[in-house]
Amino acid sequence: MIITQQDAEVVIAVALDAAGLVQRMRRSGGLEVKSKSNDIDLVTAADVACEHFIREALAARFPAVGLLGEESNRAPTEEYFWVVDPIDGTTNYANNLPHCAVNIALQHQEETLLGVTVHLAMDWVYYARRGAGAFVRQPNGSEERLHVNQADRLRRALLTTGFPSTRGEVADDNTAEFTYFVQHASDVRVLGSAALDLAFVAAGISAGYWEFGINPWDVAPGALLVREAGGLVTDYEGAPWTLYGRRLVASNGQPGLHDALLGGIRTARQTLLAAD
Ligand code: IPD
Repeated sequence: MIITQQDAEVVIAVALDAAGLVQRMRRSGGLEVKSKSNDIDLVTAADVACEHFIREALAARFPAVGLLGEESNRAPTEEYFWVVDPIDGTTNYANNLPHCAVNIALQHQEETLLGVTVHLAMDWVYYARRGAGAFVRQPNGSEERLHVNQADRLRRALLTTGFPSTRGEVADDNTAEFTYFVQHASDVRVLGSAALDLAFVAAGISAGYWEFGINPWDVAPGALLVREAGGLVTDYEGAPWTLYGRRLVASNGQPGLHDALLGGIRTARQTLLAAD
């Protein structure tokens, strides 16, 4: 299956319509915030409605393609499938913090062919087709190719991260890694959307991002964005990140920086093990 720019436009249109739906639901109130695996792992009525909308809209155009969605979370049996996070940054959304995204990737088994991330409040469309580069499109239609930045060491690198929803229940909660990078990097931000964290690495806004406990729907589109923008996406050991990998490090690909990210994580996690 060759993914054309025309296919990408169909998916972008679906993602923008989905973003519109989510924004209308927020404005009309009654978010119906509920919890999932524990009381800080949230889902709203808009997450469920948006995933349903995306499923129907994509099935109408691509009937043979399966779907792995955050809210339905059923393993697809099809060779080609969509990976969908209807709202990445649900906690932000539930608190009216306008930093969240609709996230859609097209997979051929473990290989991501297309990634689309729409910033809900800004209507920025980040998208990448495998082998064809990564782009951001503004609401006025203007488009720019994305390139990672050149920060080559931690002291020059703005980083982002996120914390697992098991925090407070287990010692291994990313605070050791966070402390290390707060002390060694230019700075660290916790923005609440892994999808946008990766889009920002691709766009050269931040130089790196790490997180564990992530799911394919949080990061599949963004990993392609970063790779197509010239960056590197690995696991915590430095091997290429794969779709179901729960630990991810993304960077601008500068060897000095990526190695420093892996080394920092290793050092921080050793401290954690020593304290066990
Ligand atoms: C979450 C966000 C957050 C990250 C979590 C994800 P969700 O996704 O991406 O930034 O730290 O690991 O689960 O639940 O809002 O779709």
